[in-house]
Amino acid sequence: GIVAPNAVAAVDGQRQWDRLMAMARLGAITGADGAPGVNRPCLCPLDREARRLLIGWGEAIGLEPSVDALGNLFLRHAGKEPGLPPVLTGSHMDSQPSGGRFDGIWGVLAALEAVQALREAGTATRHPIEIVAWTNEEGGRFAPGCMGSMAYAGHSPPDAWDAVTDGEGIRFGDALAEQLALEADIPRRPLGVVERMRPHAYVEAHIEQGPVLEAEGLDIGVVTGIQGSRWFLVELTGESAHAGTAPLSTRRDAVQDMVRAITALNRLMEDPTDVLRFTVARIEVAPNSSNSVAETVRFTIDFRHPDAAVLTARGDAIESTIRQAVRHCEVAVTERFHALPAEFAPAVVEAVARAAAAQGLAAKRMPSGAFHDAQFMVPLCPSGMVFVPSRRGISHNPAEYSSPEQLAKGARVLAQVLAELAA
Ligand code: GLV
Ligand code: MN
Ligand code: MN
Ligand code: MN
Repeated sequence: GIVAPNAVAAVDGQRQWDRLMAMARLGAITGADGAPGVNRPCLCPLDREARRLLIGWGEAIGLEPSVDALGNLFLRHAGKEPGLPPVLTGSHMDSQPSGGRFDGIWGVLAALEAVQALREAGTATRHPIEIVAWTNEEGGRFAPGCMGSMAYAGHSPPDAWDAVTDGEGIRFGDALAEQLALEADIPRRPLGVVERMRPHAYVEAHIEQGPVLEAEGLDIGVVTGIQGSRWFLVELTGESAHAGTAPLSTRRDAVQDMVRAITALNRLMEDPTDVLRFTVARIEVAPNSSNSVAETVRFTIDFRHPDAAVLTARGDAIESTIRQAVRHCEVAVTERFHALPAEFAPAVVEAVARAAAAQGLAAKRMPSGAFHDAQFMVPLCPSGMVFVPSRRGISHNPAEYSSPEQLAKGARVLAQVLAELAA
């Protein structure tokens, strides 16, 4: 049955939608065919406004805000036994540069809606519930993504990315310090679980970002795990030359070597089963002038697979493959992100499945192709996720869409799962 019927009934789909649309105004962009998207990179002024908005909404219903050294933002519902480990729920508020209105932010606002519903319904929880907005999940401005959750989980030291720069040369460490100074009025909390207790459980609501739920006419994805990801930065250094005078035989052309490298990588990444994901999508060329031979090229690799053995074997072969393919350039390959495939805890997976069934929603178990902060909670505590359908599976695109009704169903499932986990 429904564990907390009053709380589930108190979930207000319109209120959740109105908050989503208010957030979508912070960084609003227009994509192809007028699609209303969002560009809100982490630690930019718009991200700060979004955080203030969230803090205000949380305080208005009695939640206590706090911020840690990575800028992870928490809103706490104390529960009946505030000394117990908290149930953690949330996602991220930063977006891709050409992103949609739902990726990340919905998981934070669904958590707020679910906790507000629990409080309004007077549903008692023994455990505290903490809503979290993780810093820099996307990794679009500062690579890699998931910095906040990785530091929280002790997967990486908190200063690991201080020297990472964005497209304008701004250091992550400086942008973070500036933000923390602007948020000096918000109580600070210790980072992560080292000095504190482990969370009791973690559950993250997120749009599917793929086509499965819509295609099968389902309401809820019961997420069973997340495939592994590895990110690399490749730097090729040749020599600039005059496009009209330098003979091809004497050139050390970084773009031509990049073509050789990517061609060889495409062979390495061949997969008849079509499970493997391999993406080169960010390329910087210098001097970036049509009549100067390219001196340097920097390009990114995003490689993913659900099988740790494949992730390791092919990922480890990337550098040697590039070195063998390149003819003239110096090669530097840096690994910037390494997330192992993660399997969610049966306790949380079953709680999500039970909640969906009890509410009469059509659900199925599925893995996640996208990575999420939830991946880094798996070693800390029983963890899981709730997916809702994405129209045509579109994400990382202004055309991203899930309907108010679909998102309300997701928030109702989350409310029941939180009530159960925090009981
Ligand atoms: C995160 O946005 C991802 O690329 O999976
Ligand atoms: Mn996301
Ligand atoms: Mn994303
Ligand atoms: Mn993501």
